[in-house]
Amino acid sequence: MLGHREATLCGAAAGAGLLVGLWLGRKLLSRQQLRTYKSHGGANGDPLLNYLLQTSLREHPLLKKLRMRTMAQPEGIMMVACEEAQLMANLARLIHAKKVLEIGVYTGYNTMNMALAVPADGRVVACDINVDFVNIGKPFWREAEVDQKIDLRIKPAVETLDELLQAGEAETFDFAFIDADKVNYGLYYEKCLQLIRKGGVIAIDNVLWGGKVLRPGDDRDTLSIVKLNEKIHTDSRVNMSMLSIADGLTLVFKL
Ligand SMILES: C[S@@+](CC[C@H](N)C(=O)[O-])C[C@H]1O[C@@H](n2cnc3c(N)ncnc32)[C@H](O)[C@@H]1O
Repeated sequence: MLGHREATLCGAAAGAGLLVGLWLGRKLLSRQQLRTYKSHGGANGDPLLNYLLQTSLREHPLLKKLRMRTMAQPEGIMMVACEEAQLMANLARLIHAKKVLEIGVYTGYNTMNMALAVPADGRVVACDINVDFVNIGKPFWREAEVDQKIDLRIKPAVETLDELLQAGEAETFDFAFIDADKVNYGLYYEKCLQLIRKGGVIAIDNVLWGGKVLRPGDDRDTLSIVKLNEKIHTDSRVNMSMLSIADGLTLVFKL
């Protein structure tokens, strides 16, 4: 039996434990948010991300101009993070990519980024359903003189991927970036695996989804991302790495 003094001490200890737990929980949550920061022209007040950008970003002046223009849009947060785009351009150059798939164009920051990374006879097949978004980017593509490398398809991306497969383009693409509607991520992944050559790369954006992957609940987008993350982890057809850059980027290397 506990005496009155011991019982009081136990109660105090339990209360303190609860407070520390709450404090730690908050700390972890804010770290989780930090890890999923996108740097859209600023580091969101994070000094370390600011340092990273200042000492590593090499952005084409017209990409910067498009980024600034896109940030003026109410939904500008949808744009890919610039440091993430730089990594993908470097990967594309490393594997001498000539044929690239962009699934989800928005204003075309990464479409233009990849068009700059591929050689003069390279091609970026760019899929989106929203012509208004894409029209914001087009003048910048022209100014950068990469518009002739961009094959824009305005229709649901699944249809474009099926058309490419029917046209005999399986295993001919070098790089794909999946960044459109989240509920179709699983479908995009399977179709990209068919379209990409051995040794090619598939990059998948938003795989941490602002931390929501820890608590998916019944949100369809989050559940779709979690399902694909788990599938890729054990997929023997590929090698893979999940990076905590921006909102999370999985890199898949086809075997
Ligand atoms: C996150 S944004 C893409 C960002 C882009 N990758 C960039 O470089 O900034 C997602 C885009 O996917 C497009 N989208 C949504 N559903 C789609 C679908 N079923 N097929 C093709 N595009 C779709 C949206 O219109 C939007 O422009």
